[in-house]
Amino acid sequence: MYILGIESSCDETAASVIERGERNRVLSAVIKSQIPLHAKYGGVVPEIASRSHYEVIDMLVDNALRTARLTVGDIDLMAVTQGPGLIGSLLIGLSFAKGLAFRHNIPLVPVDHIDAHLESPFIDHPDIQYPLLALVVSGGHTTLFYRENKFSGHILAKTRDDAAGEVMDKIAKHFDIGYPGGPVLDKLYPKGDPGIFSFTIPKMSDGSDDFSFSGYKTAVLRHAQLNDIKKDTQPFYDLISSFMNAVVEYLLKRTKEYAETLNPKSILIAGGVSRNTLLRQKFSEAFASSDIEFYMASPEFCTDNATMIAWLGYEKYTTFTKNNYFDPYLNSYSRAQFKKPKRHR
Ligand code: KG4
Ligand code: ZN
Repeated sequence: MYILGIESSCDETAASVIERGERNRVLSAVIKSQIPLHAKYGGVVPEIASRSHYEVIDMLVDNALRTARLTVGDIDLMAVTQGPGLIGSLLIGLSFAKGLAFRHNIPLVPVDHIDAHLESPFIDHPDIQYPLLALVVSGGHTTLFYRENKFSGHILAKTRDDAAGEVMDKIAKHFDIGYPGGPVLDKLYPKGDPGIFSFTIPKMSDGSDDFSFSGYKTAVLRHAQLNDIKKDTQPFYDLISSFMNAVVEYLLKRTKEYAETLNPKSILIAGGVSRNTLLRQKFSEAFASSDIEFYMASPEFCTDNATMIAWLGYEKYTTFTKNNYFDPYLNSYSRAQFKKPKRHR
């Protein structure tokens, strides 16, 4: 079965063609990043993002099909990001996908962007065992999931304010050292000493395990102000390393606590920030000697891409229905629906 995936939720327009069934492989994965368009603003400008998606989406899909050596007539199934994301950006991908699917009578599956990130480690590791814990950490989300199987589970913790990647992007913007900030801070990390500056792990006043990252930005700026730290100096590198180390330790601590309580068979990390060198290294080391298998997405499937959309689209299609109708809420998880397990402190 050939599946065409389309992703346009934020600042990347992407199209992928995959083959699933007897053979499971990626035939093409093309991405048009908008980084150069947004770099001078230090963040994504929604109107610019929508216009850029609009300008390239048809060429991109065409390119993905040609790279896969297929035509649209060969496509058996389409999958498109339904949300969450920037509404103008989502509308471009959704409208294009609906038009193409309708014209060529191809079933179309709407896919949740976060669920697709969670699915991304399966692209290279199809045999990941359930139940699992999955940390999806990106520019828009920092959420820890528990999944009993591919389509049922609950949220254990999520950020109450900024996402981890968002804070990295904001810090890089403040110091004017590049956009997006995550990859820039990743490169700077080895230049500093992570033990120089200390950060306090946030505690929710209601006792919840939810994440909070906005305080890290305030703490970085306060350290910089109190110590009169200027960029491109050794104290600056020490501050960046200490901050990155603190964020990774925080994510790892929560994940380990839940792993001890819930004893899953597997642990996954996914999303743009899971491309981070330190995060990958610390998580790999932390679970290397445990009974729990640890998996991460390949770097190209960590940040936004259409392969993860096509991959999960196929799973939804084969699991739920072979008709053209899909409940858009089928795969969205709300806290209200599930009882949260207690974890030992
Ligand atoms: O998953 P993604 O492409 O988009 C969202 O769904 O948000 O993630 C983008 C985020 C940005 O905040 C970016 O700074 C961060 O992922 N990121 C990284 C790295 N590469 C991308 N953060 C840390 N280290 C990296 N190497
Ligand atoms: Zn994403």
